[in-house]
Amino acid sequence: NEGSLWGGRFSGGPAEAMAALSKSTHFDWRLAGYDIAGSRAHAKVLQRAGLLTETELTDMLAALNQLEADVKSQAYVAAESDEDVHGSLERGLLERAGTQLGGKLRAGRSRNDQIATLGRMFLRDHARIIASGVIDTIDAMLDQAKAHPYAPMPGRTHLQHAQPILLSHLLLAYAWPLLRDVQRFADWDKRAAVSPYGSGALAGQTLGLDPNFVAAELGFDSAVFNSIDGTAARDVFAEFSWITAMIGVDLSRVSEEVILWATKEFSFVKLHDAFSTGSSIMPQKKNPDIAELARGKAGRLIGDLTGLMATLKALPLAYNRDLQEDKEPVFDAADTLEMLLPAMAGMMGTLTFNTERMAQLAPQGFALATDIAEWLVRQGVPFRDAHELSGAAVQLAESRGVELWDLTDEEYAGISEHLTPKVREVLSTEGSLNARNGQGGTAPSAVAEQIVEFERQLDQI
Ligand code: ARG
Repeated sequence: NEGSLWGGRFSGGPAEAMAALSKSTHFDWRLAGYDIAGSRAHAKVLQRAGLLTETELTDMLAALNQLEADVKSQAYVAAESDEDVHGSLERGLLERAGTQLGGKLRAGRSRNDQIATLGRMFLRDHARIIASGVIDTIDAMLDQAKAHPYAPMPGRTHLQHAQPILLSHLLLAYAWPLLRDVQRFADWDKRAAVSPYGSGALAGQTLGLDPNFVAAELGFDSAVFNSIDGTAARDVFAEFSWITAMIGVDLSRVSEEVILWATKEFSFVKLHDAFSTGSSIMPQKKNPDIAELARGKAGRLIGDLTGLMATLKALPLAYNRDLQEDKEPVFDAADTLEMLLPAMAGMMGTLTFNTERMAQLAPQGFALATDIAEWLVRQGVPFRDAHELSGAAVQLAESRGVELWDLTDEEYAGISEHLTPKVREVLSTEGSLNARNGQGGTAPSAVAEQIVEFERQLDQI
C-alpha cells in the first residue's frame, strides 16, 4: 500500500469515504519544507545514536535534499492516494533513497510528534512575518502622527464630542495596542520555541535519541519535558490564534474610525485612490474597502480562534485525530493577516487629513466644558460646584444656540462670581490641549514625550 504508513495489520485498503475524510494533503502540504527539515534533523540524531552509518546518513541527506528540490520545483507532488504530508514525503523518500535505506528514517518518531513540531515551526516563521506587517502598519500611523504634531480634532466618548485632542495622540492610541500585539508575539515565541520531536506517539522513544539535538537543529531553544504534553498540547496554537484575532480586532477599530472619517458628514480624511475602490454603478463613489475588509476579517479571525478552541475543549490526552483540525484555522489566520496588513499600512500611510475642518470642530459641542470646571477648581472652587457652574454655562449657550466662547462676560458673571473674564484663557482649543501636559496627556509636549517612549519600545522589538 504505497504512500500509506500503516498497512501491516489491515487486510485491505480504506474505503473511499474513509480515505477522503482522512486526507489532509490539500492543506498540510505547505508544511512539506518543515517536514523535510525535521527529517534531516532526525536522520542526524539516528546516526548519532548508532542507528545509521556515516554513509547511510550521507545518502539519506542527499535523498532528502533531492526530495526537497523536487517538492520545490513541483516535480514531486502529493498523490491522490497520499493521506498526509508525512506519508507522501516518505513515499518520495523511498523513491529516492530506496526502500532499504529510506525505510530506516521512521524509527523513533511518530506523525504525532512530527506534526506538533512542524506546526510550531510554521507558526514561529509566520509570527515573524505577521509581526513585521504589523510594524509596517504601526510605522504608517507613527509617520502620520509625526507629520501632524499640532493638529487638533474633536476627541469623542460615546461617539459624542468630549474634549479636544491631538490627531497624533489618537493615531498613537491606535498604534499602542498593535505594538503590544507585536510584543505578545515575542513573548509567545518563548513558549513556542520548545520542540515536541522525540515525544514519539505519546510516551517517548526507546532508541536513545537526543531530543535536544533535534530541537537545536530545528531552531528551537529546547525539547519538551513531557512527551504527552508535547504531542497533545495545542495551547501554543491557540495563543497564536488569539494574538492574530486581537490584531484583527485592533485593526477593525481604527478601520471603523477611518470609515466614519471618510463620510461626507465627517469629511476628516481623503483616501488615496490607490487604496480605495469605486462603484460599478455610482460614478461618484469612493469607498473605504480596505477598512471594511479589515473590519470583516476581524470576524473571520475570531472565528478561527473560536473553532480551534472548540476543537480542543475536553479533548482527552494524548493525540486524537481531532487535532488534525488545528492547522486550517492558524493557516487561515496567517494568510488573512499577511494579505490584510500591507493594504492597511498603505491605506493609513496615504490618508490625507482635513486638519482645518478637524481643528474647527475640535472645540465645538461644548467640548471645553471640562476646562471651565477644572479652571474653577484651580480658583479654589470645589469640583462638585465647578461641574454645576460649567453645566449652567453649557445650558445657557445651548439655549442661545451659541458656543461657550460666545457667552458674554456679563452672562458668565451672572452664572457665578467665580466666572471672571479670565476664564477665557481656557476657552480655546490650544489652551485646552496645552493644559493636559502630564504624562499620557494630549498636550503637544506630552505627545512628543509619548513618541519618544513609543519609539524606544518599538526599537526594542
Ligand atoms: N495528519 C495528522 C495531523 O495533522 C497527523 C497524523 C497523525 N495520525 C495518526 N493517526 N496518529 O494531525
